[in-house]
Amino acid sequence: MTDETKVGNLKTLIEEADIAREVNRLGQQLAADYRGLPLTVLGVLTGSIILLSDLIRRIDLPLRVGLIQASSYRGRTTTPGELSVNDSLLPDITDRDVLLIDDIYDTGQTLEALMKTISDGKPRSLRSAVLLWKEGRSTVDVEPDYHCFRIPDEFVVGYGLDYNDDYRHLPFIATLENSDL
Ligand code: IMP
Ligand code: MG
Repeated sequence: MTDETKVGNLKTLIEEADIAREVNRLGQQLAADYRGLPLTVLGVLTGSIILLSDLIRRIDLPLRVGLIQASSYRGRTTTPGELSVNDSLLPDITDRDVLLIDDIYDTGQTLEALMKTISDGKPRSLRSAVLLWKEGRSTVDVEPDYHCFRIPDEFVVGYGLDYNDDYRHLPFIATLENSDL
């Protein structure tokens, strides 16, 4: 890597095998909790794409998949900017049991805003699941109903999570150490 493309030092925080094990466990729990119900799994673009594709194959139930988009980080920064929600991809969720899937619960602003928008679609029920729950960062009342891992307050990338749109493809979760963060 040249100095221009190298944006930080990666240190593995959660191994690929540990993610697979937890996603499998979550899928089994969801299959038990949603048996017999009209489940729609809603992934939040873009960070949830890897979790979404792995998780839906671990839920042994008939289900539908939908997408919604939320963007909060702007440009080369890890400080949340103004949140924008794009629900143009949202399928009809009227009377469906909706499970919202996101990569990480940090301040909770994204989850709170999305839950509000999705409620407008009159789902039968609405819960949320995240891969990562960042400790001690929440500024809202709403918390995820399901999660795979609690992590310390560090900036992480991989398995869908990005820094300036890089690193989403990494099969593991790593911390990114960079004085520019
Ligand atoms: P929240 O609204 O503060 O909870 O932030 C949630 C969104 O911010 C997530 O969907 C991520 O896209 C992004 N985010 C928060 N923390 C991190 C991180 O450590 N690495 C990468 N993205 C993050
Ligand atoms: Mg992001």
